[in-house]
Amino acid sequence: MKRLDQLTAFLRFPSISAQNVHASDVSDCADWLVDKLSSMGFAARKYATPLHPVVVAEGPKVPGRPTVLIYGHYDVQPVDPLDEWKSDPFEPEIRGERLYARGVSDDKGEIMAHILGVEELMAQEGGTLPLNVKFIFEGEEEVGSVNLSAFLQEHRDELACDVVVVSDTGMVAQNLPTLSYGLRGVTGVEIVVHGPEADLHSGIFGGAVSNPATVLCHLIDSCHDADGRVAVEGFYDGVAALENWERNMWGNVQGMSNADIARLVGVETLMPETGYTGTECIYARPTLEINGLGSGYQGEGSKTIIPSSAFAKITCRTVPGQDGARIQDLLEAHFRRLTPPSVKLEFRRQHVSTPYLCDPKSSFSRAAQEALEESFGVKPVLVREGGSIGSITEFKDILGVDSLLIGLCLPDARIHSPNENMPVELFNKGVEMSKCLLRRLAQVQLS
Ligand code: BES
Ligand code: MN
Ligand code: MN
Repeated sequence: MKRLDQLTAFLRFPSISAQNVHASDVSDCADWLVDKLSSMGFAARKYATPLHPVVVAEGPKVPGRPTVLIYGHYDVQPVDPLDEWKSDPFEPEIRGERLYARGVSDDKGEIMAHILGVEELMAQEGGTLPLNVKFIFEGEEEVGSVNLSAFLQEHRDELACDVVVVSDTGMVAQNLPTLSYGLRGVTGVEIVVHGPEADLHSGIFGGAVSNPATVLCHLIDSCHDADGRVAVEGFYDGVAALENWERNMWGNVQGMSNADIARLVGVETLMPETGYTGTECIYARPTLEINGLGSGYQGEGSKTIIPSSAFAKITCRTVPGQDGARIQDLLEAHFRRLTPPSVKLEFRRQHVSTPYLCDPKSSFSRAAQEALEESFGVKPVLVREGGSIGSITEFKDILGVDSLLIGLCLPDARIHSPNENMPVELFNKGVEMSKCLLRRLAQVQLS
């Protein structure tokens, strides 16, 4: 079967991990992967977890050569708002140069590029591989990789390896191979301000009773100062200063000036933290963002009420030196201190994932950079990522190995958004890159 047909078949599964109605689609998608990997001669298995399955596969043993573990996630984000899609999210369609489907850039296109890279390399080498290859594909990345840590503990021998390859990060431009040596972490919380036991008539009670929406706005406003810094006491404790070599390097990344980023997202101008550029803020500064807000009447026309409650969903992106659980403590103390006695504050802790930083000069990283230069014809850029992947620090902590983050996700790939896409040519480049990478990693001397 042609490369693209295989990707298309994989994309047809609506493997949305966040939605219970799709649990069997997630599981069917895992079965499809097991079949595909088995057909290549890999020992492949689907393992159940308390939520969505993990797929693990192992190729033929090649003694004395490095072992690479290729990670990806086959679950995808929800598709809403559905009416903004130009084609069905699970009926892949090519328009212009790009293939459109939910998950094509996050992360099924990348998974397929590596699977086909391994398959084609094996065919070229007469049925063998130059190194040991294992795969691990999880179905819970988009819901915080909740069961992965326990899974890795339990299967650490089976998953033993020298390095992990992850293609689930960004690529700054289609002709510019990108290696990331760091990721931010995520720390989520939710706050609910509870006022009167039911919505009240705002004329009969307004002025005397605290409005939970007003209190919530005050709490949210208190989170930043005029310089765009997070104004929660202790938030920046331990945050390492940016290194000059990083600032110089990122200042020159093609297509990532403040004006470029503003154009890309369709705003007049950026508003980065005072003293930092847009890329510096994205790659290496911690943030606090409101992801969702709710209170009061949302329907047509007006309705004169004091809402009985108001909520906000908040996540912080964390950087090395910060501890996600401590950030939750700081946020709770901050909000409690500012909450007036006329309302009750409910504070919920959500998932925490840890930031990651590794050495871009390690022998595996250098081999990866050579492979990127060979397959794309230009030297890769080295960046850190604003996004987060829960599993990466688990690989370090539990398996004791670093991850090579080789992104194929373009800035305008619209991941997590309607009309997610990947250029067909980039997908094919990804397959070639994967082959090149495996050949180079195979040459690394194990110490
Ligand atoms: N692949 C992304 C992370 C990413 C995307 C990193 C682009 C760098 C560039 C991953 O699937 C993702 O969306 N992660 C979530 C984690 C969250 C659900 C816990 C994120 O970063 O919001
Ligand atoms: Mn992803
Ligand atoms: Mn994602």
